Amino acid sequence: MAIYLDNAATTFPKPQEVIDAVSRCMALGAVNAGRGVYPLAHEAEKIISETRSLIRDLLNYNNGNVIFSPSATIALNQVLLGIKWSSRDVIYVTPLEHNSVTRVLENIKQNYDVEIIDIPLCSETLEYDLKETEQLFFKKPPKAVVMTHVSNVCGLITPVEEIATLAKQYDSTVVVDGCQGGPLVPLEEPQELVDFYIFSGHKTFYGPFGIAGFVTNGNIGLNPILFGGTGSHSELLSMPEEIPFRYEVGSPNIVSISGINQACKWIKKIGANNIAEHDRSLLAYATRELEQFDNLKVFVNQELSKHLGILSFIVDTYTAQEIGMILSQQFEIATRTGLHCAPMAHRFLGTLSHGTVRVGFSYYNTEDEVKLLIDAISTIVA
Ligand SMILES: Cc1ncc(COP(=O)(O)O)c(C=O)c1O
Repeated sequence: MAIYLDNAATTFPKPQEVIDAVSRCMALGAVNAGRGVYPLAHEAEKIISETRSLIRDLLNYNNGNVIFSPSATIALNQVLLGIKWSSRDVIYVTPLEHNSVTRVLENIKQNYDVEIIDIPLCSETLEYDLKETEQLFFKKPPKAVVMTHVSNVCGLITPVEEIATLAKQYDSTVVVDGCQGGPLVPLEEPQELVDFYIFSGHKTFYGPFGIAGFVTNGNIGLNPILFGGTGSHSELLSMPEEIPFRYEVGSPNIVSISGINQACKWIKKIGANNIAEHDRSLLAYATRELEQFDNLKVFVNQELSKHLGILSFIVDTYTAQEIGMILSQQFEIATRTGLHCAPMAHRFLGTLSHGTVRVGFSYYNTEDEVKLLIDAISTIVA
């Protein structure tokens, strides 16, 4: 594929340092950490422990605990199903959540009869209404607020800190799905406001598949949802109380952890802000150009600084799938079409029937590539 613009699905390519770390680990040190007393096992433990602090650092948590899991979906399941729910609890979500939030909450709703309410967002301007949010919280205080940090459909950044500040007036639990945000859009003070921040290794962290997790400030206890060996406290029949082991079952994925370890160092070297600014400048360029076409609609807030590098668009005369196919087959440009596992977002944007064409930028994309995309779209819609 000549041009890869499906970076919201997974960033590709990965930094060379990440590729090297993964193969080095496979060749020289892929042993089971936390279960042996020999040097390679100690080395693996050191990498894991260093990676926890790199992630904590990049996400701006001073003292948080980093808990690893094989995917963000599993991390979200652990956090959401681990919260101690009661019947008629009220949960607020953004209208843009991914299925790895909505399906889990639907399951909780069926078991606990909780109420799920959308945080007010204008579908035309893509502007959150914080005043109305405040009033809603007053009328129906939140037990929990669950927010995608950056929409995987349209790249809109949720004003997490503002909404979390309102929610904390009611001692609400705050969960942020940071799969498309962290560590590129770091929160200023997540420690007090965000109880659980979910991250994905293979997306905006530029790491490999197979490593994700969440950071917690430790204020809210979770029931573990998975049970098994932890390499520690093996005499217990129940899961140990000690964090992170309470929520980390099975052999740690040292290969992927070695990869995300180097990815964190690469991000620090380039600067998370520089990566975000690069993605945003491509987004601004693409949006400005796409908005020139009469029969094409881009789903953006006019303040493009409220987006990261993901945009969605539709064309009057073709379905999203048709555009995606033509881009792939005639122009060798990889985009993603359809619902992007976020049907609620599409219902909200009015695109549920066919979804949108989604373009996701990464640090490795260039303006020339965006120009080729625009030229291709121009040929298609002409
Ligand atoms: C916002 C968001 N949340 C959660 C996920 C789930 O991530 P994974 O499939 O890696 O578990 C994704 C993946 O697309 C996502 O974009």
